[in-house]
Amino acid sequence: MSSGVVSQLGYMGLAVRDVAAWERFAVDVLGLSVGARTPSGGFTLRLDSRAYRLFVEPGDMDDVSVMGWEHAGEAELGATVLALRAGGHDVVEAGPAEAADRGVRRLFRTLDPGGMPLDLYWGPAVAAEPFASALVPSGFVAEGQGLGHAVVNARSQEESLAFYTRLLGCRLSDFVRCEIHGHPVDIAFLHANERHHSVALAVGQKKRIHHFMVEVGSIDDVGRCMDRALRAGVRIMQTIGRHPNDGMISFYARTPSGFQFEVGCNGRRVDDATWQPTTHDRISEWGHHPPELVVRWPR
Ligand SMILES: [Fe+2]
Repeated sequence: MSSGVVSQLGYMGLAVRDVAAWERFAVDVLGLSVGARTPSGGFTLRLDSRAYRLFVEPGDMDDVSVMGWEHAGEAELGATVLALRAGGHDVVEAGPAEAADRGVRRLFRTLDPGGMPLDLYWGPAVAAEPFASALVPSGFVAEGQGLGHAVVNARSQEESLAFYTRLLGCRLSDFVRCEIHGHPVDIAFLHANERHHSVALAVGQKKRIHHFMVEVGSIDDVGRCMDRALRAGVRIMQTIGRHPNDGMISFYARTPSGFQFEVGCNGRRVDDATWQPTTHDRISEWGHHPPELVVRWPR
């Protein structure tokens, strides 16, 4: 069976209970900028040359509403649609009005095996103005590497892994298999371009994602973002630390919808010509401690 060929995680949609809280969080803590207001009462968010990378709409689910997977062109999109249909998945083409609403040339929709709605498209909208953030002087690492990454809930890691690799065309980067604070961890990390992972798969998440990550250009901008989160009363979930697989130095905190976000820098780039998938026995080289554990440490 021929495989699809996604090129990047292009965008994510969020359906949230508190739209105003999300705007304060996204703009004042993350340092993103509002691209446009939407008729539903929501807004889009920019972090690079694209017209948007996230869109936020009012909604009771308080969760990710869709993940958008980009393709380089019509032929690549066609290959993914063909592979999915050959694999027995329902794929529906959205009408021109819906595609225009997303700002893309052509749009199909499907669900991943964990139930995540996926947009499959090519031809994203590019903003008229360049992106710059006064809060993030080093900028965001995105463009051809996509929005960042998300750890997506899976009902079965094996089933989701087969879907994302054999049908969408992602490649396995590695696994992390270990135990943290008495809980088993088993996560598969997949890349669609040189970013170490655009999606990771983990069973048993309460929401559709455990977290999403945006990458900034410097460690100072990671630290400044953590300062802004602390000042804004955003709950820090993991202190600064470094992952062994993508090498990223990052911290984790809680979004207004309960799932987490990660802001990091220095993420590893993957070269498919030489990359060998491995299994790591820890999720962090150092750091990434829950603050409630840190305050119990002896003084
Ligand atoms: Fe992450």
